[in-house]
Amino acid sequence: MKRRDFIHWVGLTWLATSLPIVIAALCKPTRAGTSAEPSDWQTVGTGVQLDETGQLLVENSPLGSVLIIGTSKSEKLIAVDPTCTHKGCTVTWKPEGQKFTCPCHSAEFAVDGKVQKGPAKKPLKTYIAKIERNSVMVKST
Ligand code: FES
Repeated sequence: MKRRDFIHWVGLTWLATSLPIVIAALCKPTRAGTSAEPSDWQTVGTGVQLDETGQLLVENSPLGSVLIIGTSKSEKLIAVDPTCTHKGCTVTWKPEGQKFTCPCHSAEFAVDGKVQKGPAKKPLKTYIAKIERNSVMVKST
């Protein structure tokens, strides 16, 4: 192989191996078309909305689906992704048992998202939540 051919071959090899990495870096997806970082506080509703029923379900927040439990007077809010980790149904809050239950196959989750009863095996994703100037805000843990 001539020197010129070798240099040409090395250049093409470098381009072929590097190009997919460059394209992947440039095409990095964002959540729901926003530039929200998961670590940022996101406003998902108002204290008034939360006080109406003691819970607020926001299905298309920048962080994904979020269910917040509490009122504007609560010392601590509970916030989870209500998507059941078994097959994806939406869990509901049962205040009498202080737990989330799944209507599809009866899985149960504690306030911290941990599985209390199968068939789900993985916990619900949890969020940190707060109320600031009447805005309900959540942030990834
Ligand atoms: S989808 Fe929730 S228990 Fe099956």
